[in-house]
Amino acid sequence: MASPLVLVDRRGPVAVVTLNRPEKHNAMSLALKDALVRAVRDLDADPAVRVLVITGAGDRAFVAGADIAEFRGRTLVEQQRMYREGTVYDAMDRVAKPVIARIDGYCFGGGLELAMACDLRVASERSTFSQAEINLGIIPGGGGSQRLPRLVGLGTALKLTLTGERIGADEALRIGLVDEVVAHPLLDRRVGEIAGKIASKSAVAVRLAKAAVKASARLPIEQGLRYEQTLFTLAITSEDKEEGVRAFLEKRDPRWTDK
Ligand code: COA
Repeated sequence: MASPLVLVDRRGPVAVVTLNRPEKHNAMSLALKDALVRAVRDLDADPAVRVLVITGAGDRAFVAGADIAEFRGRTLVEQQRMYREGTVYDAMDRVAKPVIARIDGYCFGGGLELAMACDLRVASERSTFSQAEINLGIIPGGGGSQRLPRLVGLGTALKLTLTGERIGADEALRIGLVDEVVAHPLLDRRVGEIAGKIASKSAVAVRLAKAAVKASARLPIEQGLRYEQTLFTLAITSEDKEEGVRAFLEKRDPRWTDK
């Protein structure tokens, strides 16, 4: 039997989702994308899971892009149907729980777009990044033209998108494409620390905080500020707020009920 294209490993409240096609540097075939969408949807709906980590199998690649072989012969009708049915990047964007991209190795094209559709990007120092589509005579189609400039600014996004140039982890950190870079042997520990810290908070507050901050990328500031007030009103009236305040005043750790 072929090994599953996507593996899910639950480590307490943290679910690690591994794209498992190492012989192709985890290039995302349509079947792999479907499996990833299903896994992520299930985990988002599972109350036992508080944080998702997305990573790639093997020690060479996070994801070396969408499966280039499947681009051959793609018709107008097929591409329009794919977008109508929704993409893996749309599915990632809809996840309410925090998602951390654990990047170790090649993070190219659709792989970079997948990482950018996550909330945080933590990379090993040996990782490399490229918005590589231009080299194939296409353009980013998984959100890259919109998410890259929001992360790194217009000029740098244009440079990366138009040249397809490869950059290293330190450069990716400098321009804001990734949030942290650590030595390879420390990657799992650091991702675990961040995931564990988030998982220890109230799930209600985490969900609202993520929604509020993400809204800043799509709303004008006035609407964004009103939206924050709406979400803050939900947070300040939650049971976990009562518990958080009580725990602070009683000088003890809070016991969240996620309500
Ligand atoms: N789609 C489909 N197959 C891919 C792939 C992709 N995005 N990236 C790698 N592969 C396949 C290779 O074709 C090769 O398959 P084979 O063993 O059947 O020939 C296998 O993965 C290993 O890749 P290979 O190129 O031999 O490894 P390498 O270490 O020499 O180079 C890369 C690694 C990532 C630099 C190189 O594979 C590459 O440039 N990939 C394409 C990256 C890209 O342009 N991505 C953007 C797509 S939009």
